[in-house]
Amino acid sequence: MESLKDFVLNNKYLIAGHRGSSGTAPENTLSSFSEAIAAGANMVEVDVQITRDNQIVAFHDARLERTSNGLGFLVEQDIDSLRSLDAGSWFNAKYNGEQIPTLDEVIELTRGKVYLNIEAKSRKFAKIDEKVYSILKRIEYYDLVDYVLFSSFDYVLLKVIKEYNPNIPTAAIRIPGDTTPASVLKKEVFCDAFVCAVEELSDDISQDCKKNKIIIGVYSVDDDKQLDIALRYDVKAIVTNFPDKINKLMIARGLIK
Ligand code: G3P
Ligand code: MG
Repeated sequence: MESLKDFVLNNKYLIAGHRGSSGTAPENTLSSFSEAIAAGANMVEVDVQITRDNQIVAFHDARLERTSNGLGFLVEQDIDSLRSLDAGSWFNAKYNGEQIPTLDEVIELTRGKVYLNIEAKSRKFAKIDEKVYSILKRIEYYDLVDYVLFSSFDYVLLKVIKEYNPNIPTAAIRIPGDTTPASVLKKEVFCDAFVCAVEELSDDISQDCKKNKIIIGVYSVDDDKQLDIALRYDVKAIVTNFPDKINKLMIARGLIK
């Protein structure tokens, strides 16, 4: 597998399964990541958070209710109680018993197969450096620096990552309503990529990124029309809840094999 840097330099498209294949499986579970890989995604996006006892898990919301049978805030619970929860049945009974995965499990499932986009959720990251370092240490432990992309809405967190290791690629996700150009973020926090919602794309964003050699990623691209928009603005990283569908559309357009 070539490094993510080389992949991007070769001008190829990244098809990233958003929270796995979250349109067809419960988001941020091993089933969802497996389905994304089987669907032909070449990147998987995972939201990560830190438990009360400093374990790294895949989970999107601050609270547990929407995507598990737990109650309350994730950061207030220990790994053992989180692991006893069912994070699959809310989506479909066939995923009954699906656990909240650890970051290690996600890495072990995906490494050598797809690039991993780790979105660090910064909720209650009181000691931001310490928490981020614990994630980065796992990346180094698994020798994944060349195959990983860190993204976040938290730009301080992105800066901490680059200061720790400038070789780790990072992406700033546009905070809704914030119009700071990607080129300014690149100067401030040294990000390599800029991610925004498909509805937020504009000529200004596209031209600014092109001029300043910033890769654009867009979420969530789930149908033909959204794919048209993304391609029109020269997006190279297509983040989708339906990697199977988008992969087929990209093949049909002759853009990937
Ligand atoms: O990577 C973009 C996307 O994941 C950011 O939003 O809320 O789905 O994590 P969210
Ligand atoms: Mg995310």
